[in-house]
Amino acid sequence: MLTKIKNIFIVLILVLIITQFLRPEKNEASYDSIASFEEATSLPAEVKTVLQNNCYDCHSNITRYPWFMEVSPITHYMAYQIEEGKEHFNVSTWDTYTDKQKDRKLAELIEEIEYKKMPLKPYTWMHGELSGADGKKLIAWAKETREKVKTRKSDSLNTQKIDSTVIDSTISKVSLVY
Ligand code: HEC
Repeated sequence: MLTKIKNIFIVLILVLIITQFLRPEKNEASYDSIASFEEATSLPAEVKTVLQNNCYDCHSNITRYPWFMEVSPITHYMAYQIEEGKEHFNVSTWDTYTDKQKDRKLAELIEEIEYKKMPLKPYTWMHGELSGADGKKLIAWAKETREKVKTRKSDSLNTQKIDSTVIDSTISKVSLVY
């Protein structure tokens, strides 16, 4: 029995040593991608700090890598979470979302914070919980930004209306000529 446990232990150590060398690719792009999201959503400095400290690691193309994030199996686990997180919500690709998608992401963000589902649990063991005050800041900003996205949408609808009136009057002018 004891030798069996010893063997399992040795195998585990070997796996850890080997995987330590099989590093997943790091999530490290330039800050430009995030900067355009911050500009588009007029992100206030204090909300930016909250996102930087709690969310960007899994929801942008830039992750901070403190030493423990370099250690197997944490590094592999995190690489998986980053991949998953970015698939659902990635501020670095904010520009590619339609207004409808942006609105949905922000609605989901509010929900995730209200239900205390984000940041994901094992991450908070290492980085600390999101404080209630910081959560409120995020929610207030997300609600405000949703309104802005909606107003912009109705603005562009109005422009379309104006465009069609111009076209209508042009058509009637043309038909007058003939
Ligand atoms: C450790 C990585 C990690 C961190 C840190 C993290 N998330 Fe996530 N997030 C995920 C993963 C993985 C998913 C997709 C699976 C799920 O919904 O649980 C996700 C999903 C989401 C979604 C989309 C939910 C949906 O319904 O599609 C939103 C919005 C979100 N997170 C917001 C946040 C915010 C805001 C923070 C910071 C307060 C944050 N996340 C921090 C990993 C993370």
